[in-house]
Parts: sequence; C-alpha cells; structure tokens
Amino acid sequence: MTLPRPTPPYPLPRLSLFDTDPAEYAVDAVVIGLHRRDDDPAADPIDLLVSGGGESIVAAFDGQLVTALRTLGATGKAGEVIKLATLGTITAPLVVAVGLGPEPAGALPPPEVLRRGVGAALRSVAGHRSVALAMPVSDDDTLPATVRTLAEGALLGGYRFDRYRTTPSRQRPVGSVAIHVPDARDRAVRAALKQTPVTAGAVVRARDWVNTAPNELRPPDFADQVAQAATEAGLTATVLDEKALRKGGYGGILAVGQGSQAPPRLVRLDYVPKGTPRAKVALVGKGITFDTGGVSIKPAQGMWEMKSDMAGAAAVAATMLAVAEHAPQLAVTGWLPLAENMPSGSAYRPGDVLTMYNSTKVEVLNTDAEGRLILADAIARACEEEPDYLLETSTLTGGQIISLGRRVAGVMGSTELCEQVRRAGEAVGEPAWPMPLPDDVRQGLESAVADISHVNTGLERVGTMLQGGIFLSEFVTDPVQWAHIDIAGPAYHAGEAYGYITTGGTGVPVRTLLHLLDELASGDQA
Ligand code: BES
Ligand code: MN
Ligand code: ZN
Repeated sequence: MTLPRPTPPYPLPRLSLFDTDPAEYAVDAVVIGLHRRDDDPAADPIDLLVSGGGESIVAAFDGQLVTALRTLGATGKAGEVIKLATLGTITAPLVVAVGLGPEPAGALPPPEVLRRGVGAALRSVAGHRSVALAMPVSDDDTLPATVRTLAEGALLGGYRFDRYRTTPSRQRPVGSVAIHVPDARDRAVRAALKQTPVTAGAVVRARDWVNTAPNELRPPDFADQVAQAATEAGLTATVLDEKALRKGGYGGILAVGQGSQAPPRLVRLDYVPKGTPRAKVALVGKGITFDTGGVSIKPAQGMWEMKSDMAGAAAVAATMLAVAEHAPQLAVTGWLPLAENMPSGSAYRPGDVLTMYNSTKVEVLNTDAEGRLILADAIARACEEEPDYLLETSTLTGGQIISLGRRVAGVMGSTELCEQVRRAGEAVGEPAWPMPLPDDVRQGLESAVADISHVNTGLERVGTMLQGGIFLSEFVTDPVQWAHIDIAGPAYHAGEAYGYITTGGTGVPVRTLLHLLDELASGDQA
C-alpha cells in the first residue's frame, strides 16, 4: 500500500488584537476601510470617509489622506483596493484602503462586505510579513462577531495553493494579522478570535483537497488522507474498501466505482462528545474524485473542473476535523462515499439495474448522474443510525448552476431545516436558497423496468436539480430531518479571486455546516 502524501497546508497567519494607535503600530501594512458618503454619481470631488481605527491615520496625514486616495482613483466602492506608500507619515510603510460601499446610517457595513474587504486587502499584500487591520468595528455586544468576521476574511483571503509550482513563489504568505479593537483584553473578543483559526483551518483544508490534482487524489488516497487526519484529530475513522462494500451490499457506490482502476471507498468519521449529546447529526458528502461522466461521457471542454466533484466530501471531512476541536455537545458522524467515475471495459452502463444498499432497484439511464447513486447508499446507511438531522452536500447537478447561478447553493429536504440552512448560509456569507421537491418531478423517475430510475426517463433536461433532490429523498427514512445542499456552482471558483474567495476550491459549505452545528449544539432547533 502506498502511503498518503503529506499535504503541506497553507500556514494560517497568526492572529492578535491591539488597542494602541494604528498610526504608530509597527507592521508592514495597515488596512483601513473607505466609505463613499454622497450618493451623487456626478459629485466632484467624491466625498470619502475613513471610518473606525483608520481615523488616527487620517489625523497623522494632516488631512491629506483622502486627497491622496482620491488622486489614486478611490471611490469607496465595495471590492476596491488602493495601496498608498506612507513615506514616514505613519509607522507602517504601506496603507491599504479597501472600499466598503456607502456609509450605513449609524451602523457597520454588512459582515460580508467587511469579510470580503479584508480578504481582498490580504490578497493585495502577499509578500509582506505583518499586517494590521484598522477597520470599523462595533462598540456593543456584536464586537466579538465583528472581530471574527474580520479575522475570517484575513485568514481566507490570504490562502493560496502552490503545491504544483516547481519554483515556489518568492512572496511568502502573510505571517501575522493584528486587529485594532477598543480593548485588546476584552474576554469575549479574545474568545471569538480563538475560534477563527479552527473554522478557517477547516475551510482551507477543504480548499486544499479540492485543488489537489485528481491523479493524486483517487478514492483510496483520499480515504487514507482523511482517515489519517481524522485519527490525529481524535475522531474514529472507519474505511470500507471494495471488499467490505461488496459484503455490505453498497450497489450504488460499487457500480459508479467499477470503471476505475482505483476502487471506491466509504469513509465513516465519528465524533462522540463527553456526556449526553443534545442531538445526533449525520453529515454526508459526495466524493467523486473525478467525474468524466463515465460511458455517458462529458464534453472535453471544462472537464478538468470535475476534479472538484469531491468538494462535498472534502467539506464534510474538514467540518469533522473542526468538530473534533470545537467539541460541541452533539454526536456527529461524517459519511464520505468516494469513487472515480470513469469509462472503461468494466464501467457500469446505461440500462444497468442496481441493487442499492437499502435494496431499492434502480435503473441507470445516464452514467453521468453518478453522484446520487453513491449518495443514496451513504444516506441509507447513515439513516440506520437514526440521526435527528442529516445534512448532505454535493456538487450534484449542472441544473443548480442554471437555476441559481454559480454562487448560491440549492437546498432541498425538510422545510424547517432547509430554512435553517438558508439562514446559516446568510450569516456566514455562503448564500443558499430553498427549493421544492414537486410531485410531478417524482413521476418523471418512474422506471419501465425497476423500482425507480435515477434521472428523468424521458431524459428531459428540466428541473434537474429538483430531480436529484427527489431521488435522494427516496433513501431518507422517517423521522430524520434532512437537507440536501447542492453546491455544484459555489464549491468551485474558476475565475479571478474576489474578496476572500480564491481561484479553485472555495471551501463552501464548511462554514454553513459549522454554524448549523453550533446552533444545534446550543439547542436552537430547526
Ligand atoms: N458533477 C456533475 C454536476 C456538476 C456540473 C457539478 C457542473 C459542477 C459543475 C454531476 O455528476 C452531473 O454530471 N450531473 C448531470 C446529471 C444529468 C446527467 C442528469 C448534470 O447535472 O448535467
Ligand atoms: Mn456526473
Ligand atoms: Zn458528478
């Protein structure tokens, strides 16, 4: 057996707080927030406002800072980043002004605006060692949450993946980030800050797995890496190999995996709290390490992005690692069905009838609808443990992207839980929207030969996201509250980096899952 390659992780910058004057703070760069105060598009000059910790820097510049920023083209628009050499006016040699949009009346900008602003700032200072954030912060009991938002933006925006560059980038990642707050000894703020590296660490781990080339992360490799990391974190890891899968009757996982030289796996990760758990939660993630479509092969253009078809499994594995550190009062089990969907002489084919883990007979019509087959087995298995909640996430359908675009996940399942997922996503900046599971779409899955087909028997390409959700619902047992989160779009970002989202894996929906688990552990029911 080959040993799993050690994954050199992106080193998260060290975080700290400071309450001294940002103008006199010794760092390589200070980040400040910039608002546009007027809403007159023709205004000249534009009325700009530096808010929060940046005020002392404005003072140090003797009124010239806004003038200089205007000269450099600043408009205060969200997403804007302007860098300015300070030439001795303040201690730090560089000011980075990030646009925060219009000044909100007596309040902070929305958390996602702050998170993205700091993320963009951190991307712009790659190569510098130390950074201070002199951003607007709240002065009430929302301060801990604001500090967490800023820290998260910094840790995630600084992420990069350069494992495949023979010559490493000469720009070292930022080593430390200090956040300006009114009182650096505030206990609630310090506690909030301590949580951030756990959450961000999980997100970047998921990103790393998604960004790993598919030749280096086939199901046995991925299973080994997850099991090793989980064991080190104190979780119990169990890996079913192809023999165990055959013995267990996992017909869906085996069929999808049978076309590949690298056999499928089912990984189970268990977190058991001390004392009585408040609830029992199952997390399930789609782990297709590469999706060629199989015999129903995909077009060549863009097929490389299907290395991200294991983003759901990566998110669940990374979430479990964070759960081990957070130690919530919940019993949490992660399930990762892993397979490589390849066309070959041994591949499954359209027309095959599969006997699934729960004995349902499924007629295969399109081998590219493989995700729901491996997930059906994993969901049925997870339900045997009678969890209170089951959260499943997968890059399941192109239809999700057609319906909701690249940045909004589709959520299907138990109404209340779907709504809770939506709210959690909104809170953390991972938008998700509830979608229905209508009867007529279920009727489209009636098979001429078996219990059910996994895609529309007329191969009609309408409502395909809903079809995926409906198929999965057949494998959930009562009274489990469940939600299926289709992340086909949001899991992977092919374009230029923006905010704290870097090119490649995004780590969605790790922060949503952690937020939900927090809520369930504190007794906030769906
Ligand atoms: N992994 C794909 C879905 C996908 C598409 C994810 C684009 C990310 C970006 C999935 O396995 C798939 O191929 N789905 C098909 C199903 C169809 C054949 C019913 C789809 O959505 O086109
Ligand atoms: Mn597919
Ligand atoms: Zn797929």
